[in-house]
Amino acid sequence: MAEQLGTLEELPQDYREDMTAAGVAPLWPMMRNVLPHGAPNPVTQAGYWSFPKIRPLLLRAGELTPVEKAERRVLVLSDPGRGAGAMQATATIYLGLQLLLPGESAPAHRHTPSAVRIVVEGRGGYTVVDGERLPMEPGDLVLTPGGEWHDHGHDGDEPVIWLDALDLPLFVLLEGSYAIEGELQAQRNRPDASQVEYSAAGLAPSRRPGRGARRYPMMRYPWAATETALRNMATYGEGVAELDYINPETGEDVLPALGFTAMMLKPGQSEAPPLRSCSSAFHVIAGKGRTEINGQVIEWGPKDTFTAPVFARLRHQAETEAFLVRIHDRPLQEKLGYYEERAR
Ligand SMILES: [Fe+2]
Repeated sequence: MAEQLGTLEELPQDYREDMTAAGVAPLWPMMRNVLPHGAPNPVTQAGYWSFPKIRPLLLRAGELTPVEKAERRVLVLSDPGRGAGAMQATATIYLGLQLLLPGESAPAHRHTPSAVRIVVEGRGGYTVVDGERLPMEPGDLVLTPGGEWHDHGHDGDEPVIWLDALDLPLFVLLEGSYAIEGELQAQRNRPDASQVEYSAAGLAPSRRPGRGARRYPMMRYPWAATETALRNMATYGEGVAELDYINPETGEDVLPALGFTAMMLKPGQSEAPPLRSCSSAFHVIAGKGRTEINGQVIEWGPKDTFTAPVFARLRHQAETEAFLVRIHDRPLQEKLGYYEERAR
Protein backbone atom coordinates (compact mmCIF):
# COMPACT_ATOMS: atom_id res chain seq x y z
CA MET A 1 0.00 0.00 0.00
CA ALA A 2 1.64 3.21 -1.16
CA GLU A 3 1.91 5.93 1.49
CA GLN A 4 2.20 8.70 -1.07
CA LEU A 5 0.06 8.73 -4.20
CA GLY A 6 0.91 10.59 -7.38
CA THR A 7 0.24 14.35 -7.44
CA LEU A 8 -1.38 16.59 -10.03
CA GLU A 9 1.92 18.43 -10.51
CA GLU A 10 3.58 15.22 -11.72
CA LEU A 11 1.26 15.13 -14.74
CA PRO A 12 2.17 16.97 -17.98
CA GLN A 13 0.50 20.35 -18.45
CA ASP A 14 -1.14 19.40 -21.78
CA TYR A 15 -2.67 16.27 -20.19
CA ARG A 16 -4.05 18.34 -17.30
CA GLU A 17 -5.56 20.85 -19.73
CA ASP A 18 -7.11 18.10 -21.85
CA MET A 19 -8.65 16.52 -18.72
CA THR A 20 -10.14 19.85 -17.65
CA ALA A 21 -11.55 20.41 -21.16
CA ALA A 22 -13.13 16.94 -21.04
CA GLY A 23 -14.67 17.63 -17.61
CA VAL A 24 -12.70 14.96 -15.73
CA ALA A 25 -10.07 14.92 -13.01
CA PRO A 26 -7.69 12.20 -11.75
CA LEU A 27 -8.81 10.55 -8.51
CA TRP A 28 -5.40 9.54 -7.18
CA PRO A 29 -4.14 13.02 -6.11
CA MET A 30 -7.39 13.58 -4.19
CA MET A 31 -8.16 10.09 -2.92
CA ARG A 32 -6.55 10.41 0.53
CA ASN A 33 -8.62 13.57 1.13
CA VAL A 34 -11.88 11.67 0.85
CA LEU A 35 -10.66 8.25 2.06
CA PRO A 36 -7.99 8.81 4.73
CA HIS A 37 -6.61 5.73 6.47
CA GLY A 38 -7.97 4.52 9.82
CA ALA A 39 -10.30 7.36 10.77
CA PRO A 40 -12.01 10.38 9.19
CA ASN A 41 -10.17 13.67 8.93
CA PRO A 42 -12.88 16.11 10.07
CA VAL A 43 -13.20 19.71 8.88
CA THR A 44 -15.13 20.43 12.10
CA GLN A 45 -13.11 21.91 14.96
CA ALA A 46 -14.05 22.10 18.61
CA GLY A 47 -16.17 25.21 19.18
CA TYR A 48 -17.11 27.17 22.28
CA TRP A 49 -19.84 29.81 22.61
CA SER A 50 -20.09 31.86 25.78
CA PHE A 51 -23.68 32.70 26.61
CA PRO A 52 -22.73 35.90 28.54
CA LYS A 53 -21.02 37.12 25.33
CA ILE A 54 -23.84 36.19 22.96
CA ARG A 55 -26.80 37.27 25.13
CA PRO A 56 -26.26 41.05 24.64
CA LEU A 57 -25.84 40.52 20.87
CA LEU A 58 -29.10 38.61 20.76
CA LEU A 59 -30.96 41.27 22.77
CA ARG A 60 -29.53 43.92 20.43
CA ALA A 61 -30.85 41.95 17.46
CA GLY A 62 -34.23 42.35 19.14
CA GLU A 63 -33.82 46.15 18.92
CA LEU A 64 -32.28 46.21 15.42
CA THR A 65 -34.53 43.74 13.61
CA PRO A 66 -38.26 43.36 14.27
CA VAL A 67 -39.36 39.75 14.24
CA GLU A 68 -41.46 40.44 11.11
CA LYS A 69 -38.20 41.25 9.27
CA ALA A 70 -36.43 38.17 10.57
CA GLU A 71 -39.18 35.53 10.89
CA ARG A 72 -36.73 33.69 13.16
CA ARG A 73 -34.42 36.00 15.14
CA VAL A 74 -31.42 33.73 15.43
CA LEU A 75 -27.65 34.00 15.83
CA VAL A 76 -26.06 30.94 14.25
CA LEU A 77 -23.19 29.16 16.04
CA SER A 78 -20.58 28.71 13.29
CA ASP A 79 -18.08 25.84 13.32
CA PRO A 80 -14.58 27.37 13.71
CA GLY A 81 -13.32 24.79 11.19
CA ARG A 82 -15.61 26.24 8.52
CA GLY A 83 -15.29 29.87 9.61
CA ALA A 84 -17.60 32.77 10.44
CA GLY A 85 -20.96 32.54 8.72
CA ALA A 86 -20.90 28.74 8.42
CA MET A 87 -24.49 27.53 8.79
CA GLN A 88 -23.40 24.56 10.87
CA ALA A 89 -21.65 23.67 14.11
CA THR A 90 -20.56 20.19 12.97
CA ALA A 91 -20.98 18.27 9.70
CA THR A 92 -24.57 17.39 10.60
CA ILE A 93 -25.60 19.66 13.50
CA TYR A 94 -26.86 23.21 13.08
CA LEU A 95 -27.05 25.30 16.26
CA GLY A 96 -28.60 28.74 16.71
CA LEU A 97 -29.64 30.91 19.64
CA GLN A 98 -33.11 32.35 19.10
CA LEU A 99 -34.76 35.33 20.79
CA LEU A 100 -38.50 35.86 21.15
CA LEU A 101 -39.69 39.01 22.93
CA PRO A 102 -42.94 39.33 24.93
CA GLY A 103 -45.96 39.54 22.64
CA GLU A 104 -44.06 38.39 19.56
CA SER A 105 -44.91 35.37 17.49
CA ALA A 106 -42.98 33.50 14.83
CA PRO A 107 -45.08 32.50 11.82
CA ALA A 108 -46.19 28.92 11.21
CA HIS A 109 -44.28 26.75 8.80
CA ARG A 110 -43.12 23.22 8.27
CA HIS A 111 -39.93 22.01 6.69
CA THR A 112 -38.00 18.91 5.82
CA PRO A 113 -35.26 19.24 8.50
CA SER A 114 -36.13 18.38 12.11
CA ALA A 115 -35.48 20.71 15.03
CA VAL A 116 -35.17 20.61 18.78
CA ARG A 117 -35.41 23.63 21.08
CA ILE A 118 -33.59 23.65 24.38
CA VAL A 119 -34.88 26.55 26.47
CA VAL A 120 -32.03 28.70 27.80
CA GLU A 121 -33.84 31.47 29.67
CA GLY A 122 -37.20 33.19 30.17
CA ARG A 123 -40.71 32.01 30.85
CA GLY A 124 -43.96 32.40 28.94
CA GLY A 125 -42.74 31.22 25.55
CA TYR A 126 -44.47 28.36 23.82
CA THR A 127 -44.24 26.35 20.61
CA VAL A 128 -47.28 24.94 18.87
CA VAL A 129 -46.57 21.71 16.98
CA ASP A 130 -49.36 20.08 15.04
CA GLY A 131 -51.92 21.98 17.17
CA GLU A 132 -50.33 20.95 20.47
CA ARG A 133 -49.26 23.86 22.65
CA LEU A 134 -45.89 23.10 24.26
CA PRO A 135 -44.89 25.41 27.12
CA MET A 136 -41.20 26.34 27.10
CA GLU A 137 -39.69 26.40 30.58
CA PRO A 138 -35.92 26.74 31.13
CA GLY A 139 -34.17 23.44 30.34
CA ASP A 140 -37.18 21.94 28.52
CA LEU A 141 -36.47 20.05 25.31
CA VAL A 142 -39.14 20.60 22.65
CA LEU A 143 -39.27 18.73 19.34
CA THR A 144 -40.44 20.13 16.04
CA PRO A 145 -39.92 17.09 13.82
CA GLY A 146 -39.55 17.39 10.05
CA GLY A 147 -42.89 17.82 8.27
CA GLU A 148 -44.79 19.00 11.37
CA TRP A 149 -46.40 22.46 11.40
CA HIS A 150 -44.94 24.70 14.08
CA ASP A 151 -45.08 28.27 15.29
CA HIS A 152 -43.88 30.11 18.38
CA GLY A 153 -45.56 32.60 20.70
CA HIS A 154 -44.79 34.46 23.90
CA ASP A 155 -47.28 35.33 26.67
CA GLY A 156 -44.67 36.25 29.30
CA ASP A 157 -43.02 39.56 30.16
CA GLU A 158 -39.30 38.83 29.72
CA PRO A 159 -37.19 37.83 26.72
CA VAL A 160 -37.19 34.13 25.94
CA ILE A 161 -34.04 32.59 24.50
CA TRP A 162 -33.65 29.04 23.32
CA LEU A 163 -31.04 26.94 21.52
CA ASP A 164 -32.15 25.47 18.21
CA ALA A 165 -30.52 22.21 17.13
CA LEU A 166 -31.34 20.99 13.63
CA ASP A 167 -30.19 18.36 11.17
CA LEU A 168 -30.22 21.18 8.58
CA PRO A 169 -26.66 20.64 7.20
CA LEU A 170 -27.62 17.11 6.21
CA PHE A 171 -30.70 18.32 4.35
CA VAL A 172 -28.69 21.05 2.61
CA LEU A 173 -26.15 18.42 1.52
CA LEU A 174 -28.99 16.22 0.23
CA GLU A 175 -30.50 19.25 -1.59
CA GLY A 176 -33.64 18.36 0.33
CA SER A 177 -34.12 21.44 2.50
CA TYR A 178 -37.23 23.59 2.04
CA ALA A 179 -40.08 25.11 4.04
CA ILE A 180 -43.80 25.72 3.49
CA GLU A 181 -45.50 28.70 5.14
CA GLY A 182 -48.93 28.49 6.76
CA GLU A 183 -51.39 30.22 9.07
CA LEU A 184 -50.93 30.23 12.86
CA GLN A 185 -52.42 26.97 14.13
CA ALA A 186 -55.54 26.49 16.18
CA GLN A 187 -54.44 25.12 19.54
CA ARG A 188 -56.02 22.10 21.18
CA ASN A 189 -57.37 23.10 24.57
CA ARG A 190 -55.41 20.63 26.70
CA PRO A 191 -51.93 20.21 28.21
CA ASP A 192 -49.19 18.64 26.10
CA ALA A 193 -48.70 14.86 25.87
CA SER A 194 -45.93 14.82 28.52
CA GLN A 195 -48.64 15.85 31.01
CA VAL A 196 -51.47 13.68 29.62
CA GLU A 197 -50.54 10.38 27.91
CA TYR A 198 -46.92 10.04 29.07
CA SER A 199 -46.91 11.56 32.54
CA ALA A 200 -45.36 8.48 34.18
CA ALA A 201 -42.31 6.48 33.05
CA GLY A 202 -43.17 2.99 31.79
CA LEU A 203 -46.81 3.80 31.11
CA ALA A 204 -48.34 4.51 27.70
CA PRO A 205 -51.97 4.68 26.56
CA SER A 206 -53.68 1.35 25.81
CA ARG A 207 -54.46 1.08 22.13
CA ARG A 208 -56.83 -1.03 20.12
CA PRO A 209 -55.30 -3.16 17.35
CA GLY A 210 -54.57 -1.13 14.26
CA ARG A 211 -54.66 2.15 16.13
CA GLY A 212 -51.04 3.13 16.41
CA ALA A 213 -49.49 6.06 18.21
CA ARG A 214 -48.48 9.21 16.40
CA ARG A 215 -44.99 9.00 14.91
CA TYR A 216 -43.89 11.65 17.41
CA PRO A 217 -46.19 10.97 20.37
CA MET A 218 -44.42 13.26 22.86
CA MET A 219 -42.84 16.51 21.79
CA ARG A 220 -41.97 18.19 25.09
CA TYR A 221 -39.55 16.78 27.66
CA PRO A 222 -39.93 18.97 30.77
CA TRP A 223 -36.62 19.70 32.47
CA ALA A 224 -38.07 19.22 35.97
CA ALA A 225 -38.75 15.53 35.22
CA THR A 226 -35.35 15.09 33.54
CA GLU A 227 -33.50 16.60 36.50
CA THR A 228 -35.36 14.40 38.99
CA ALA A 229 -34.50 11.29 36.95
CA LEU A 230 -30.83 12.30 36.71
CA ARG A 231 -30.63 12.92 40.46
CA ASN A 232 -32.05 9.45 41.14
CA MET A 233 -29.53 7.92 38.73
CA ALA A 234 -26.68 9.89 40.33
CA THR A 235 -27.72 8.74 43.81
CA TYR A 236 -28.05 5.04 43.04
CA GLY A 237 -26.20 4.47 39.73
CA GLU A 238 -22.50 4.14 38.98
CA GLY A 239 -20.43 6.68 37.06
CA VAL A 240 -21.84 9.79 35.47
CA ALA A 241 -25.64 9.80 35.21
CA GLU A 242 -26.69 10.03 31.57
CA LEU A 243 -30.17 9.50 30.14
CA ASP A 244 -31.29 9.24 26.50
CA TYR A 245 -34.28 11.25 25.33
CA ILE A 246 -36.48 8.62 23.69
CA ASN A 247 -39.78 8.21 21.92
CA PRO A 248 -41.95 6.75 24.75
CA GLU A 249 -43.81 4.42 22.34
CA THR A 250 -40.81 2.89 20.54
CA GLY A 251 -37.83 3.48 22.84
CA GLU A 252 -35.98 4.89 19.82
CA ASP A 253 -34.19 8.22 19.56
CA VAL A 254 -36.55 11.20 19.40
CA LEU A 255 -35.59 12.23 15.86
CA PRO A 256 -34.42 10.32 12.75
CA ALA A 257 -30.95 11.89 12.48
CA LEU A 258 -30.23 13.54 15.83
CA GLY A 259 -30.18 12.14 19.37
CA PHE A 260 -30.06 13.83 22.76
CA THR A 261 -28.92 12.86 26.22
CA ALA A 262 -29.04 14.62 29.58
CA MET A 263 -26.00 14.29 31.85
CA MET A 264 -25.39 15.10 35.49
CA LEU A 265 -21.93 15.46 36.97
CA LYS A 266 -21.39 15.81 40.70
CA PRO A 267 -18.93 18.45 41.97
CA GLY A 268 -15.42 17.31 41.05
CA GLN A 269 -16.68 14.32 39.03
CA SER A 270 -14.95 13.60 35.74
CA GLU A 271 -15.95 11.53 32.73
CA ALA A 272 -13.82 10.27 29.84
CA PRO A 273 -16.19 8.69 27.28
CA PRO A 274 -14.98 6.37 24.51
CA LEU A 275 -14.07 7.86 21.14
CA ARG A 276 -17.36 8.05 19.27
CA SER A 277 -17.80 8.21 15.50
CA CYS A 278 -20.59 10.78 15.95
CA SER A 279 -20.06 14.51 16.34
CA SER A 280 -21.39 16.17 19.47
CA ALA A 281 -22.61 19.46 20.88
CA PHE A 282 -22.95 20.09 24.60
CA HIS A 283 -25.27 22.67 26.12
CA VAL A 284 -24.78 23.56 29.77
CA ILE A 285 -28.11 23.68 31.58
CA ALA A 286 -26.46 24.53 34.92
CA GLY A 287 -23.08 24.39 36.62
CA LYS A 288 -19.44 25.05 35.82
CA GLY A 289 -16.56 22.90 34.67
CA ARG A 290 -14.02 22.20 31.98
CA THR A 291 -13.82 19.83 29.05
CA GLU A 292 -10.70 18.73 27.25
CA ILE A 293 -11.33 18.12 23.54
CA ASN A 294 -8.34 16.63 21.68
CA GLY A 295 -6.04 18.46 24.10
CA GLN A 296 -7.85 21.81 23.87
CA VAL A 297 -9.36 22.94 27.18
CA ILE A 298 -12.76 24.64 27.27
CA GLU A 299 -13.90 26.27 30.51
CA TRP A 300 -17.69 26.35 30.55
CA GLY A 301 -20.41 27.92 32.67
CA PRO A 302 -24.20 28.00 32.76
CA LYS A 303 -25.97 28.27 29.37
CA ASP A 304 -22.71 27.96 27.36
CA THR A 305 -22.48 25.63 24.38
CA PHE A 306 -19.51 23.72 22.96
CA THR A 307 -18.92 21.16 20.24
CA ALA A 308 -16.61 18.23 19.50
CA PRO A 309 -15.77 16.69 16.12
CA VAL A 310 -16.09 12.99 15.30
CA PHE A 311 -13.78 10.61 17.24
CA ALA A 312 -12.85 13.42 19.64
CA ARG A 313 -10.91 12.51 22.77
CA LEU A 314 -13.07 14.06 25.51
CA ARG A 315 -12.66 14.52 29.23
CA HIS A 316 -15.31 16.41 31.21
CA GLN A 317 -14.53 17.66 34.69
CA ALA A 318 -17.24 19.35 36.75
CA GLU A 319 -16.26 22.10 39.15
CA THR A 320 -19.74 22.43 40.64
CA GLU A 321 -22.74 20.15 40.24
CA ALA A 322 -23.41 20.33 36.52
CA PHE A 323 -26.14 19.39 34.04
CA LEU A 324 -25.39 19.09 30.32
CA VAL A 325 -27.49 18.17 27.32
CA ARG A 326 -25.51 16.28 24.67
CA ILE A 327 -26.65 16.54 21.06
CA HIS A 328 -25.29 13.94 18.65
CA ASP A 329 -25.85 12.34 15.26
CA ARG A 330 -25.58 8.70 16.36
CA PRO A 331 -29.14 7.90 15.08
CA LEU A 332 -28.12 8.89 11.55
CA GLN A 333 -24.86 6.92 11.72
CA GLU A 334 -26.68 3.84 13.05
CA LYS A 335 -29.16 4.03 10.16
CA LEU A 336 -26.21 4.20 7.77
CA GLY A 337 -24.61 1.26 9.59
CA TYR A 338 -21.31 2.76 10.69
CA TYR A 339 -21.73 4.12 14.23
CA GLU A 340 -18.72 3.04 16.29
CA GLU A 341 -17.12 3.57 19.68
CA ARG A 342 -13.39 3.01 20.19
CA ALA A 343 -11.54 2.53 23.46
CA ARG A 344 -9.39 5.49 24.40
FE1 LIG B 1 -38.99 26.01 11.80
